[in-house]
Amino acid sequence: MKAVVLFAHPGTESFNHAILGQVTESLHKHGVTPTIRNLYEQHFSPIFSPADMQAMESHRTPKSIEEEQTILTDSDLLIMIYPVWWWSQPAILKGYIDRIFSDGFAFRYEKTGPVGLLTGKQAFVFTTTRESQQEMQTSGLGEVVEKQIVDGILRFSGFDPVVYHNFAEVPYVEEAIRKSYLQQVDQAIASLKLPVLQ
Ligand SMILES: Cc1cc2nc3c(=O)[nH]c(=O)nc-3n(C[C@H](O)[C@H](O)[C@H](O)COP(=O)(O)O)c2cc1C
Repeated sequence: MKAVVLFAHPGTESFNHAILGQVTESLHKHGVTPTIRNLYEQHFSPIFSPADMQAMESHRTPKSIEEEQTILTDSDLLIMIYPVWWWSQPAILKGYIDRIFSDGFAFRYEKTGPVGLLTGKQAFVFTTTRESQQEMQTSGLGEVVEKQIVDGILRFSGFDPVVYHNFAEVPYVEEAIRKSYLQQVDQAIASLKLPVLQ
């Protein structure tokens, strides 16, 4: 079983890094060493460039894109970890999705509508916010953030199941709450069914 983690945080000691550490430790407990794509560390270019567009139009895939696509194809489990920025992904991860989850690789349109191509894989998404769950429920933005990544990107691309956890008020909560957040990450990974952890 292979797992890939897409990690998008520019800092060095953030709570997102603590989530990454927990995910790695929890997967290790199950004998899985994930491939970690730390997008800032690898200086991933998020720009869907004119060259990318031309390549796509002539059905060629640039090598750098193909390498990332191969990692996804080879993985049974995808885990995304990122802070919510402007009710979405940090641009570096949004750009990863724009460039790597391409038409013909992640999905295609048939007469009946879109068909996800990354099937037989499951996904976890761990996000963090400054806002509280209560505020996000009142504004409806929590639902928007979840729906965009879960339905709009991952289920659309064929991932199933997709499990989403947001950890709210991260800059403000006490250490004990942060610890409980990390326990939730551990429990989420432990609850993985599938051939994945067996
Ligand atoms: C550019 C930017 C945009 C942000 N947008 C949001 C937002 O839309 N909603 C929110 O609750 N927090 C927002 N935040 C706060 C971060 O989500 C929060 O600081 C982060 O989740 C805390 O995790 P960390 O300690 O790992 O960085 C934003 C922060 C930055 C830098």
